[in-house]
Amino acid sequence: MFNYRQLDDDRLEYVTIASTDEIRNGERLILDVAGNLIAVFNIAGRYYAIASICSHDDGPVAEGEIDGQEIECPRHGARFDLETGQALTLPAVVDIPAYPVRVEGDEIRIGLPVIS
Ligand code: FES
Repeated sequence: MFNYRQLDDDRLEYVTIASTDEIRNGERLILDVAGNLIAVFNIAGRYYAIASICSHDDGPVAEGEIDGQEIECPRHGARFDLETGQALTLPAVVDIPAYPVRVEGDEIRIGLPVIS
């Protein structure tokens, strides 16, 4: 299960990754969070966070073109749902991680699964 938006809050740790000034409408920010590349997108005021590693062949999926709520991997064109991480088209058949995002004041926070 890679859609961490479905986890209960007690299984997530929210980490501040940027301020709202840093990711304006239509922009994205790719971060190294504890060794994992995670991308946060602002699309018309809604925030999405996914892992920036394609499940097909490790391509930099978060650098791809956005179409609505979908992103296309720049390497071979697989498409993923930004909200759920679901693989929508070949050649990817495995979902990628998607994380919940909260805005508290001017802080953007993402929920990372707690490793126990
Ligand atoms: S690496 Fe993303 S589609 Fe192949």
